[in-house]
Amino acid sequence: MAADPRPHPHATAEEVEAAYADPKLANVLYHDWEADTYDEKWSISYDERCITYATDRFRAAAGDAGPYGHALELGCGTGFFLLNLMQGGVVDRGSVTDLSPGMVEVATRNAASLGLPVDGRVADAERIPYDDDTFDLVVGHAVLHHIPDVPAALREVLRVLKPGGRFVFAGDPTNIGNFYARRLGRLTWWLTTNVTKLGPLSSWRRPQAELDESSRAAALEAVVDLHTFDPGELERYARRAGAVDVRAVTDELSAALFGWPVRTFEAAVPRDKLGFGWAMFAYRTWQRLSWVDEHVLSRVLPKEIFYNVSVTGRKPV
Ligand SMILES: C[S@@+](CC[C@H](N)C(=O)[O-])C[C@H]1O[C@@H](n2cnc3c(N)ncnc32)[C@H](O)[C@@H]1O
Repeated sequence: MAADPRPHPHATAEEVEAAYADPKLANVLYHDWEADTYDEKWSISYDERCITYATDRFRAAAGDAGPYGHALELGCGTGFFLLNLMQGGVVDRGSVTDLSPGMVEVATRNAASLGLPVDGRVADAERIPYDDDTFDLVVGHAVLHHIPDVPAALREVLRVLKPGGRFVFAGDPTNIGNFYARRLGRLTWWLTTNVTKLGPLSSWRRPQAELDESSRAAALEAVVDLHTFDPGELERYARRAGAVDVRAVTDELSAALFGWPVRTFEAAVPRDKLGFGWAMFAYRTWQRLSWVDEHVLSRVLPKEIFYNVSVTGRKPV
């Protein structure tokens, strides 16, 4: 077997230019570049907070919390979903994969520091480098919307699952959720970066070089974000790939309407301006709104208008 490619966190201007026409190259460059700071940027942790988040998302989609024997993660990033599922007792043993070598390196390093039995490989979800009938569970979080050929990836998932095995993909944007979240994010960025040009608020303005870098990153981010989904469309993809017991569920409406402007605001002002008190306020408010979404709004509103969609199913026995 050929050795995995090495991380490449400092792309040249020519490589970045080429990436605008090649979403897979863009994914590798963008995520290799982000790998070492990704956990900090997205407030990812491997403690009770993210264990609860990951296991709740899993249970909401799958309807159970395992335990599953050997699980594969596609597009693992730094390991947020699988490592927290393992810590939550949902999975015994893990294999993490990602198109970005930098992400696989960070995910396996995170697993080792948590003492979890995890191996890692660089892999494209459209061509999974494992034998048929290998895994009890395949998971992914916020990855389907980056994959050019989602039906091909789902066929691969069904191939590597053991008969009766389950897949759970969570955290992808719905068509409607993406519409309002993006607009709110753009509006917040515009307001924050313009209001902080005014004299009395100028200490809240991030240095121009950092703002320019964020804008360049956002441009590449737009290349890697390929899809948004209708929940029914995801269910159809999964059934056509051969899955049974398929269902899609959604979550976060008021939490997303709050969370997107907050995250954008945090990215637009200097880090040292917002302390622990702000972080707690943002997290607790998001948590309360998520509760309202799950226990109140999801009972009365159509699932298509929530922000996140998850899909699950099984390989026939
Ligand atoms: C938004 S990040 C999510 C990372 C992680 N799952 C999480 O939730 O924090 C998407 C990840 O998918 C990976 N990815 C993109 N396209 C892929 C593909 N075709 N096959 C495998 N991984 C891919 C990216 O490199 C990136 O690490």
